[in-house]
Amino acid sequence: MKVLDGETLSPPPLWLMRQAGRYLPEYRATRAKAGSFLDLCYSPEFATEVTLQPIRRYGFDAAILFSDILVIPDALKRDVRFTEGHGPQMTPIDADGIHALKPDGVISHLAPVFETVRNLRRELPEKTTLLGFCGAPWTVATYMIAGHGTPDQAPARLFAYRHREAFEYLLAFLAEVSADYLVEQIDAGADAVQIFDSWAGVLGEAEFEAFAIAPVRRIIQSVKARRPQAKIIAFAKGAGYQLKSYRQKTGADAIGLDWSVPLAFATELQKDGPVQGNLDPMRVVAGGKALEDGIDAILQALGNGPLIFNLGHGITPQADPEHVTALVARVRGRQGSSA
Ligand code: CP3
Repeated sequence: MKVLDGETLSPPPLWLMRQAGRYLPEYRATRAKAGSFLDLCYSPEFATEVTLQPIRRYGFDAAILFSDILVIPDALKRDVRFTEGHGPQMTPIDADGIHALKPDGVISHLAPVFETVRNLRRELPEKTTLLGFCGAPWTVATYMIAGHGTPDQAPARLFAYRHREAFEYLLAFLAEVSADYLVEQIDAGADAVQIFDSWAGVLGEAEFEAFAIAPVRRIIQSVKARRPQAKIIAFAKGAGYQLKSYRQKTGADAIGLDWSVPLAFATELQKDGPVQGNLDPMRVVAGGKALEDGIDAILQALGNGPLIFNLGHGITPQADPEHVTALVARVRGRQGSSA
């Protein structure tokens, strides 16, 4: 929270995107007990447990609520399913479906998530920041339009060219619902929130302004109008040079950086405020010198300004939990060797 206020801390605080997940045996055990992935997201007991697991094991400085960005389309009755080996699936939406969307019942459908946040604030150490989150409208829309994940978001890009008005309506609608969702998380005890725009990198220049910046600005303005103290991290993965004005245009307090962002550019971005990132998750899989060199380069380039140490995207299932132990030790200055 100090870094989000613009302070420089040495060592920097750290957490990892997807820190609760399949690389941890204790996660896989709870996941097996919970039933489906959505059952896990909507069980306050199990969701609290898996959020706490990486905090117990590694003592990260922040816990991120265990849920998924796709609980919003689920609450909008898009028939969201997570089937083993297929990733998320749902009923693809068309222009008529978009205009028929209703915000009624969304917040009450998500009540178990807010209960998880309340449990967590009670059970977490006081010094551990609790992060809430939502997906950015563009990223959530890509799944709603295609009905599943795609490598390049071609279905949503095409839909936006063909049905511009309906598409903008969808993004504005998702921005409103997401702002309400974040306000509820903050009221339940989240200290700060992150907006995940995982697919921002496939947008052209004009579309980045309209589909990535405008809806995220709308969420941030709406949340801050109601909760002026709220701190918001915005992560636009793959945004590259567009990050130059992203903080200023969206009003985010901190910006997340993926591993493709050059550290010299990251240093520039850090002059305007806190940055978060940006270790390649594959360095955590590799371990050893690849891990150590990646950490050292980030600390050297960004350690003298406001930095929240993180990966450049989520940790992957094949990461060795021992490599994460080494990462934490090294960021905290206890020269951990991951060999
Ligand atoms: O970071 C955390 O530890 C908090 C929990 C979290 C999850 N998903 C848990 C999860 C967060 C913040 C997310 C965000 C999310 N979900 C994003 C944005 C960030 C990103 O990674 O790009 C996106 C695009 C999604 C949609 C989604 N959910 C995908 C593409 C998948 C993978 C499907 C698969 O089978 O691998 C999920 C499932 C998911 N969400 C898992 C976890 C731990 C794995 C599912 C399982 O346990 O079976």
